[in-house]
Amino acid sequence: MPGEAEILGESLPFEERIELPNWAYRRVDIEDYRASHASSVRDAAGQWERLAKELFWQRPWDKVVSEGDHPHVSKWFEGGALNLSQLALDRHVDGDRRNKLALIWEGEAIGKDGAPSEVRKFTYYDLWREVNRFAFLLKNNFGMKKGDKMAVYLPMVPEAFVVLLAAARLGVTFTVVFSGFSAEALSSRINDLGAKLLVTADGLNRRGKQVSLKDIADKALEQTRTVSQVIVVRRIDSKDTSMKAGRDYWFDDLMRGVPASARVEPEPIESEHPLYVLYTSGTTGKPKGMIHDSGGYAVLLHATMKWVFDIKDSDVYWCPADIGWVTGHSYVVFGPLIEGATAVIYEGTLDFPQPDRWWQVIERYGVSVFYTTPTATRMQMRFGEDFVRKHDRSSLRIIHSVGEPINPSAWRWLFEVVGEKRCPVGSTWWMTETGGIMVSHLPGLMLLPMKPGTNGLPIPGIDADVVDDKGEPVKHGEKGLLVIKNKWPGMPGAPTGMWGDPERYAKQYFERFASRGYFYCGDYAVKDNDGYIWVAGRADEVLKVAGHRIGTFELESSIVSHKAASEAAVVAIPDPIKGEVPIAFVVLRQGFAPSEELRKEIRLWVRSNFSPIAEPSQVYFVNKLPKTRSGKIMRRLVKAVAEGKPLGDIATLEDEASVDEVKQAYESLTVS
Ligand code: WT7
Repeated sequence: MPGEAEILGESLPFEERIELPNWAYRRVDIEDYRASHASSVRDAAGQWERLAKELFWQRPWDKVVSEGDHPHVSKWFEGGALNLSQLALDRHVDGDRRNKLALIWEGEAIGKDGAPSEVRKFTYYDLWREVNRFAFLLKNNFGMKKGDKMAVYLPMVPEAFVVLLAAARLGVTFTVVFSGFSAEALSSRINDLGAKLLVTADGLNRRGKQVSLKDIADKALEQTRTVSQVIVVRRIDSKDTSMKAGRDYWFDDLMRGVPASARVEPEPIESEHPLYVLYTSGTTGKPKGMIHDSGGYAVLLHATMKWVFDIKDSDVYWCPADIGWVTGHSYVVFGPLIEGATAVIYEGTLDFPQPDRWWQVIERYGVSVFYTTPTATRMQMRFGEDFVRKHDRSSLRIIHSVGEPINPSAWRWLFEVVGEKRCPVGSTWWMTETGGIMVSHLPGLMLLPMKPGTNGLPIPGIDADVVDDKGEPVKHGEKGLLVIKNKWPGMPGAPTGMWGDPERYAKQYFERFASRGYFYCGDYAVKDNDGYIWVAGRADEVLKVAGHRIGTFELESSIVSHKAASEAAVVAIPDPIKGEVPIAFVVLRQGFAPSEELRKEIRLWVRSNFSPIAEPSQVYFVNKLPKTRSGKIMRRLVKAVAEGKPLGDIATLEDEASVDEVKQAYESLTVS
């Protein structure tokens, strides 16, 4: 694993220690935490069991963790039954939080008076009632019951919360598909899961424009076999939404027919019952559906909401992630509500209509705990400090970031400019597979010295480490691979870890360190003398564009589905804002000649056939691509050329001239 460890070209300040003289948080010596962490790992089952007891179970478990039916898939709290909608709603409605605000939702539009045109607030009671009514509909009008599957293709509207919580109430396993994904992405997920029902919206608002979502959903539905019923949330003011009689129903029309008194008792859900399946990209093949169960997942969310976000009843919590991503599942919908927090939801983009929209939101609602991303931070840095400084941020007390490595200067900006050196700032490491945060500062537990750009130490009970190829821990400052050595609640769950594909699950995550049983995360990381972990980027060919995970294979497949493209190789190059961006090297089919129009066309093709987030920032035409003798594209070489780095081992390269092709194509467009 050669190469200096750095994040976006900035070296890692291992020795810097920033301490906060903040009495709100317990300060602890690093060595003391490491010792208590080691004992938490030794008694991990005991720890998770103590945390599980803090939740409400309809039926107690027999065993904390037991072997599942597939290798590497464990059952957590087997024998136990609980219900995540009960944890998120009924528990509060039956107690002191009944009339506490659960959600403050703000639409994107700003009125003439400068105030948001639409704000909707839900107390726990309001949300509980709506969830009951929608669950009633799902159950009685649509015949949905525990074990059924549904797909959700919605923007950030309050109805999305109602839909997910109602599904959880019934034990209907759901998959959320990001509203920026194409019809192809939607239909392939629906088909893989076998969803019977789709909940979508007529459209969404983005930068003052309306995008029709129903048109895309309709296209997807042409390619699905399983969905027979569609519920459509009314969001945009369009007369053109086509509704297919007998299949499509308006959400609001349906809900008008359900009395306020409608109730659905929360089903007892077996702890290892799949709450949801979320698709994410790997290096090869189609996106894989990661399964998250009910009990273990709830316990991990409970622990991390307490430790990482230190949620108190006086807090206003805001994580602007979309429900289409795992962050939206764990730390927008379920985590905050299980803890009884007041959460802010904002529908739109961070710079609409002005670059200070986020700081406005923080000021307007007095946000105290803020969970952001490095890409958003770097965008804000570019807009400038004035947009931040003109808004009151005195309510902020904790800031965390997620999704990709945070470069030290972006960390400093969050710490100094946004948090005014008052707030602990962290970078929480985790991934779709882990279900919740694994490596992080833990202000809710104690405060260790901060370092700009680090993820910090593993959370209690999680045995994460940085190891070399053989699985041995690396020395101070050395680059290695991030692994998790033990099992944890919330990890990909029963029955198969990966939906329908237990072999791929085992291969992808457990083959690399098979003899040791480590979970291989696919990230490069560095560990310093204090034991702090610094995740520096992906070690495989997964792209991280603005924190979004994009598979090279998926992106290449999208490109070669264009009529002009016969082969494509996609690699990522560093980008000062988005962390990295994809560029594509494309071999054209006979009869097509390189042109500027074609470049644009292919980029647009990816936008509409895959997703705008995956659009290559540049398309280069070549006559051939570097391949191994067995015909595999050598992306590693393409990347080395684009980064101007040494090629390394080229023993398996079939045709050296192909590397020159890539070089010429790259330089002719880049050095101009
Ligand atoms: C990958 C997982 C976790 C929710 C959002 C992304 C990268 C994530 C960090 C961080 C450095 C990070 C890793 C990881 N990543 N958080 N704080 N520091 N890298 O979930 O789409 O499943 O992506 O995101 O590369 O493997 P995801």
